[in-house]
This record gives sequence, C-alpha cells and structure tokens, in this order.
Amino acid sequence: MKVVLAYSGGLDTSVAIKWLQEKYDAEVITVTLDVGQMEDLKAIEEKAKALGVYKHYSMNVVDEFVERFIARAIKANALYQGKYPLHSALSRPLIAEKLVEVALKEEADAVAHGCTGKGNDQVRIEVTVKALAPHLKIIAPVREWGLSRDKEIEYARKKGIPIPIKDKPYSIDQNLWGRSIECGPLDDPYAEPPEDAFEWTVNPLKAPNEPTYVTLTFKNGLPVALNDIEMSLKDVIISLNKLAGRHGVGRIDHIEDRVVGIKSREVYEAPAAVCIIEAHKDLEKMTLTKHELVFKLIVDDRWSRLVYEGLWCDPLREDLDAFIEKTQERVEGDVRLKLYKGTVNVVGRRSSKSLYELDLATYEEWSKFDQKLAKGFIELWGLQTYIARSRGGRAEPNVGGKDQNTKY
Ligand code: ARG
Repeated sequence: MKVVLAYSGGLDTSVAIKWLQEKYDAEVITVTLDVGQMEDLKAIEEKAKALGVYKHYSMNVVDEFVERFIARAIKANALYQGKYPLHSALSRPLIAEKLVEVALKEEADAVAHGCTGKGNDQVRIEVTVKALAPHLKIIAPVREWGLSRDKEIEYARKKGIPIPIKDKPYSIDQNLWGRSIECGPLDDPYAEPPEDAFEWTVNPLKAPNEPTYVTLTFKNGLPVALNDIEMSLKDVIISLNKLAGRHGVGRIDHIEDRVVGIKSREVYEAPAAVCIIEAHKDLEKMTLTKHELVFKLIVDDRWSRLVYEGLWCDPLREDLDAFIEKTQERVEGDVRLKLYKGTVNVVGRRSSKSLYELDLATYEEWSKFDQKLAKGFIELWGLQTYIARSRGGRAEPNVGGKDQNTKY
C-alpha cells in the first residue's frame, strides 16, 4: 500500500511515518508545503528521508496560497466570528489539493494527515480530499492511535525518531497570513496569554512611542502598493507583518466555535491580515452603495463560516465569490492607517470611485443638497410607522398619559 502523508516535520507526523510503515506496511510518501510558514523545508525533507520514506515532495505554494486563498479572503473581509482571519483554515484545502495531486501522480491508495479528532483541520482536509478524489482512502494516525503525549514520546524513542526539544508549551500553526497558538497555559480562557506565546508582535507596552502611518493602495479590492511603492500582494503582507508587528498590532484572543461543537480559546497573531481587512472594509464603505454593503455583510459572513467549516469545495463558495468579485470592481483607492501601541486605525481614505460627495455632505452654505426635499421624504419614509402607532398596542414610550393611540 502507498500512502501520501502531509508532513510538517513535527513529532506527530514523524511518529505517523513509522506507524504507517508498521501498521499498514505502507510505502510512505511525504509532502511538505511552503505556505509562508518560514521553516527550513530542506531540514524537514532530510528528517523525512532519515525516517525511511519512499519519496518526499517539498512544494513552494506561497504564490498559489496568496492568489487563490488570501486574495479571496481579503475581498470577503474574512473574519470568522468577527475575529479570526482564517489563516489556518485557508491553508487546509490547499494542503488537501496537493495531497490528492501527489496521490494521483504516484498512484497511491491513501492519503494521511496528522490531525486529531477534536479540531477543524481534519474536517477541512478530509472533505476536500473526498470532494476531489472520492476513491482515496484517508488515514488519520493521530486520531486512530489514541496515544498520549508521553506514550508518543516513548514510542518515538523506541523507534529512533528524533524528539524536538520544545522550549515552549504551545502548539503552533503558521503561514503567511497568520499564526495560531494553542495549548498549555492558553487552555485557561481566563488567563491572559503569556508574553512568550507571541513571536510576530511586540508587547504593545514596548511598542514605539511614535505612531507609524501606512498608506495602502487598493485596486479591484486588493492592495497593490504600500506607501506608494508598488508591490505584489505577497510583499505587502510580508512588509505589513513586520511593520504592524513592531507596533504590537494583530494580537487576537477570542472564544471560537469549532465545527465539532467544542468551544475553544484561540490566540492568534495576524498583523498584516488585521490591517488589510480593516483598510479594505473602510474603502468598501466609501465606494459601495449602502445596499451593496448591507447585502455583502451577509455574504461575507457566510463565506467565512463556509471556509472555516471546511467546505471550500462546496459550489456555494464559488457562487459567493462570484458576487464578491463583482462588487470589487469599484473598490480602489488609498487608505491611511495609523499604527500605535497595539492599535490600528483608519485615519484617511480617498478614491476616484468614491460615492462620498462633499457638495452633499458639507454643512457649509454652498452645499448642493436641497434640504426642502427632506420634508417630503420624512413624510413617506415613516408612513407605515405613523399608521401602525395610530392603531395603538405599544407600551413605550408612554408620552402624554394613558392613551397610546395617536391620530393619523
Ligand atoms: N482554531 C483555528 C482553526 O480551527 C486554528 C487551528 C490551528 N491548527 C492547528 N493544527 N494547530 O482554524
């Protein structure tokens, strides 16, 4: 049997190699993707080879991750439950796609991953694999073997698997779009995350005393320049992760609802994601009509939930993307952000497609807004409200005594 395993180089997936070799007598093919997690892929490859894998694939998919996944997340203002920029969630369908790609090429019988049975990642990977290649068997060693951490280490020791010396008690998953930090002291939702949980952001208390201003230029809903320097979306993200991280911007701590029903405390760092989405939302407010904005809020939320819940491959995701894409035609212009002591605020925006009309908005005398029109508008706008009130039956407000019936 041939199995293609998503390999991170960590203890779980290293043990999984041996376990698949022993339990299934499998030829294990490992796949490691570069999604911008800033790890040494060469070292991971060597580790896999030392564990006797049949073949190893290292693939740099950062550009694909940016273009097909992050770009859409930006246009959708994707924040699951209002907070989580979905960085881990977005990478899973891509990982699953690549597993399938390799499995088909190698004519493998199964794919395998190192997810536990408690999280969302197993759902995201397996739904995608099943949607793309229903004939492939899926093996989830960590979910199946039920080993405790101690037992796992004991097994690793026996099999000569190198045990990484962990200096921190956290479980980390990171890519270009953000960093997820779980476990250890973070399991107590009342305890403030210890400072050593964070690596991309400085403590806001230690951030510079002077703010930094950043201008993001958008076209078709995506940043195309930073401080007037044109660059790829990938480079905007890399630059902003550093710039905003230095100001302590992008720390997220919230309670999240997993697909499997568990509530969990999640801590993230996503400086670029937080800044870009904040700017993008603001620019949409300036360039989209209120009707578009109200409807898009619903679409955006649905998109985020769908992706969080592992249904990247559902047709609805593409349907929603088609709507979102259309709205982005007018989302262009500059947004000025102010980074200061852990906060990011939009302090200015301008656009050639702006629907903001100074002539209408100003309170100055030269305003072109015809105030006389407002009188008739109000008559009609509240029409049904006036009639309904005149029929009575409302307890509040009790103006002018007992009789709630106004005359209309
Ligand atoms: N709670 C986040 C999610 O479900 C983060 C998951 C991080 N994944 C991991 N294997 N540590 O998307």
